[in-house]
Amino acid sequence: MSNAGDLSGRFIVVGVSGGIAAYKAVEVCRQLVDAGAHVAPIMTPDAERFIGKTTLSALCSEPVHTSLWDDASPIPHTRLGQRADLIVVAPATARVIAAYAAGMSDDLLTATLIATVAPVVVCPAMHTEMWEHPAVQHNISTLRSRGVHIVDPEDGRLAGGDIGRGRLAAPESIVAAVRRVLAPTQSKLAGRHVVVSAGGTREPIDAVRVIANRSSGKQGHAIAVEASRRGASVTLVTTADFTPVSGVRVVCVETAAEMKSAIDAAATSADVVIMTAAVADFRPVPIAEGKWKKEDGVPPIVLEPTPDILAGLGAAKRPGQVLVGFAAETSNLVENAKGKLARKNLDIVVANDVSQPKVGFGHDTNAVTIVTKSATHNVPLADKHTVAAHVLDSVEQSLHPTQEHP
Ligand code: CTP
Repeated sequence: MSNAGDLSGRFIVVGVSGGIAAYKAVEVCRQLVDAGAHVAPIMTPDAERFIGKTTLSALCSEPVHTSLWDDASPIPHTRLGQRADLIVVAPATARVIAAYAAGMSDDLLTATLIATVAPVVVCPAMHTEMWEHPAVQHNISTLRSRGVHIVDPEDGRLAGGDIGRGRLAAPESIVAAVRRVLAPTQSKLAGRHVVVSAGGTREPIDAVRVIANRSSGKQGHAIAVEASRRGASVTLVTTADFTPVSGVRVVCVETAAEMKSAIDAAATSADVVIMTAAVADFRPVPIAEGKWKKEDGVPPIVLEPTPDILAGLGAAKRPGQVLVGFAAETSNLVENAKGKLARKNLDIVVANDVSQPKVGFGHDTNAVTIVTKSATHNVPLADKHTVAAHVLDSVEQSLHPTQEHP
């Protein structure tokens, strides 16, 4: 039976893995079918311990698929992966998340996840201790950095009567996430050129030693991935390793001078420049060709200022171009951010208080205050991909409507 709902004509694969929350997948499938989608279910062998194949087959648009080998088609994973407009995994166990993050295809569901270019929505569900385990959080972070959408688990009653974070999100929230991902992009960033800098620069003292800082590049990388997801063509100038993502051109640099020449070149055609990088403010004046030897004594390190890349862009800003600076502060957050906004002729300053726990350098989480000429907006502690989305929401608000692409 076909429906004329808002998901009509969409081919959605629902992957169900082995957790107590598998019963909620039934409701997810039912709501997707009610909205008009063609729903193809996949169950892992462990999922069959929790719900019956008959239930899902009866509610979905085709019989449930369970194995790489028992289908009429000899390669069900590529057929399902290629036909899918979207794959949603609910519930996603720690094992499935780990296999997907590692690129392992040990059953039909993980093989299909690796055989698709369609957007993927992963809905984790597990005990609190498992959800909070660094291995699971690392895998979630890996998936997010590849553009996978994560519907975070909720607080509530878990298997065995325990209470805590890890309960599968409500079916309504999962279906809402599917709708959001499938909605035609209305981002003002679509078709724009966005330049993002990330990481900390390294300034040579001699041939082997550098002055560096603690920036990991994670926040800038998350912004680049999110801008690409919104349809922008992205140039990422970074000092840190970045897993390739389609739509993101990567320029690797090391020093502030290299970053400046890469950013200046890209900025000539940029609609938006976001300077997330921790650029060294000072660099050593060269002390020697080659390596300074111990026998020569303590090296006389003399520092000189580096050019302020962002201030240079601010001075040469084109009409309609949006410039975003970051400010790592330890006090007077908003006041200092407003000062930077004016001094460097910026549109947005994203300020974070790096003295707070889990904020800024090296963490997977951040808490920021987004300061524009007319408003300030607090983003409480969240993963860096969520913070990236808030930053780009502000950028979209700053892009003048008259400058929009047709
Ligand atoms: N920045 C830059 N070039 C530099 C130094 C910084 O483009 N040589 C950019 C950073 O990428 C960041 C912003 O400027 O987006 C904030 O840098 P910061 O060093 O905090 O700015 P200052 O105005 O120098 O502030 P402070 O007095 O706190 O050092």
